[in-house]
Amino acid sequence: MSESHALAVNEVVEYVKEANFAAAFNFLMEKLELSPEKKVSELLTFVLNQHTDQLQSEDKYTELFDCYEKVLSQFPKDCELLTEFGSRLFKLGRYVESFNCFKQVLQIDAKHLKAFHNLQYVKDKLVERWHFRMLNDCLRNVVYENAIWTHVMKGLDTVLDIGTGTGLLSIYAHRINAASITACEVSEPMLTISKKVFEANGMHDVDLLARNSRDLTEKDLRYGRPKLIVTETLDCGVFGEGILETLIHAKENLLADGGKIIPHEVVLTIAPFQSSSIAQGSVLLNESFEEYIFLNGSTLVSPQTDHYDAVNVSQLPTFEMLSDPVDCLKVNFNNLQEMRDFVDGASNTVKLKCNQSGYVDGFVVWFRLPNDGSAATILDTNPNEETCWDQAVFRLNQRMYVEAGRMLNVTVTCSGGRLRLRHGHNQPMEKCLEIPEDVLRFINDAEYLTKLEYDVNSLRKDGSFTTVMDLSPFPYVGIMLLKEKRAKKLYCLDLVNYL
Ligand SMILES: C[S@@+](CC[C@H](N)C(=O)[O-])C[C@H]1O[C@@H](n2cnc3c(N)ncnc32)[C@H](O)[C@@H]1O
Repeated sequence: MSESHALAVNEVVEYVKEANFAAAFNFLMEKLELSPEKKVSELLTFVLNQHTDQLQSEDKYTELFDCYEKVLSQFPKDCELLTEFGSRLFKLGRYVESFNCFKQVLQIDAKHLKAFHNLQYVKDKLVERWHFRMLNDCLRNVVYENAIWTHVMKGLDTVLDIGTGTGLLSIYAHRINAASITACEVSEPMLTISKKVFEANGMHDVDLLARNSRDLTEKDLRYGRPKLIVTETLDCGVFGEGILETLIHAKENLLADGGKIIPHEVVLTIAPFQSSSIAQGSVLLNESFEEYIFLNGSTLVSPQTDHYDAVNVSQLPTFEMLSDPVDCLKVNFNNLQEMRDFVDGASNTVKLKCNQSGYVDGFVVWFRLPNDGSAATILDTNPNEETCWDQAVFRLNQRMYVEAGRMLNVTVTCSGGRLRLRHGHNQPMEKCLEIPEDVLRFINDAEYLTKLEYDVNSLRKDGSFTTVMDLSPFPYVGIMLLKEKRAKKLYCLDLVNYL
């Protein structure tokens, strides 16, 4: 490296020290004769990353892409820079472009490990893994096939498949000679798959639309308004994929008069549960923690949301329901007014009678698609059934002790198209400190912490250290050593700022 070059690099380093990444980037691009030398390439990659992180946080996407364009026009075959670009596209949710970027890197260097790993990761995102579990759920498939069969046989033989995915429901309609099939799909990779599936099955007449159904109008429908709409856009909390908005739009704009929607209806069921496995990630359970760490009357909880987690509760080490399950919401997908009312906030309040004493850690919800006469079997996602759906788990931010016979009131809504619960069983937030769930789980692992403490104590005869670096999710032992004046300095992860 020449002397002037070295000086220029130093100048860039100075900008970096001041966290002025925009200046560092511009200087690198304009003033430096960028050589393919590794050192500069590494510096450039670092500066580019930092600068584009900043631009992304400020929503300056045009500038962000300009940066990559400038850099890549100068180094079109630089695998590191291309990989960084792929990662950026991924962070922005542009999975298809990100996929192509990593593929390009592997064409240049088939052994580029980072690009290879990233490519696998993007593949997982493009076709999410649950598709496999879902397609392997024979009961789900049979229920849908029977329902489609019955309705087409009754003359509802022009079909719109909303969210066709791999095209399975359209295949069922094709098998029984539906007069016309229109399918739509919003995800680009799924569209590619369904297109191939239709071709492979000789379904050349299927009109496949690369659109969100909510953007369709009657004019987009080559075969006119369908008499039958089928959709399986149900997550474990039923409404998470936007089925209410989708079907309100479809009934208003796409379905023929007198037409029908499958599924016809959904019924949700709820029960309070006790589960120390779930509580470990929600509240502070490790009592000895409080002996060392003074929390000033507060308690630790995981971040509070009114969302649910998808959990297969039958696979938890500990889980029991504290009341009989109770039906809490019923939505008829063929009743436009009812769907509108629910989106606008209609709710239902249920009383859950605890049939044993215990700690309520939250509420679990699942659903069934009742038999509307079109199917011999019904789909039920309760924890005893092996379906592709998990259950929706709403956690409490405390372990609430209840005696057998206690009544719990819970209001269930899907206002705004999202399943929510309202109740008064959480403790007031003024008493809570929120920390990430993984940190809370670490703190609650009393056995591990005791072992760690024991091992650290047995390291030195006098049990004291000058400097301690504790990189645990929470530096419990490090803090203990400081408090007991057995250490002078502690290095730990920034996560401690949560407290
Ligand atoms: C749960 S998968 C079901 C796939 C397929 N119908 C089946 O039963 O095997 C739902 C699919 O619907 C798509 N999707 C969800 N809402 C949609 C909408 N409103 N319009 C178009 N596609 C939608 C998703 O991208 C996803 O591929």
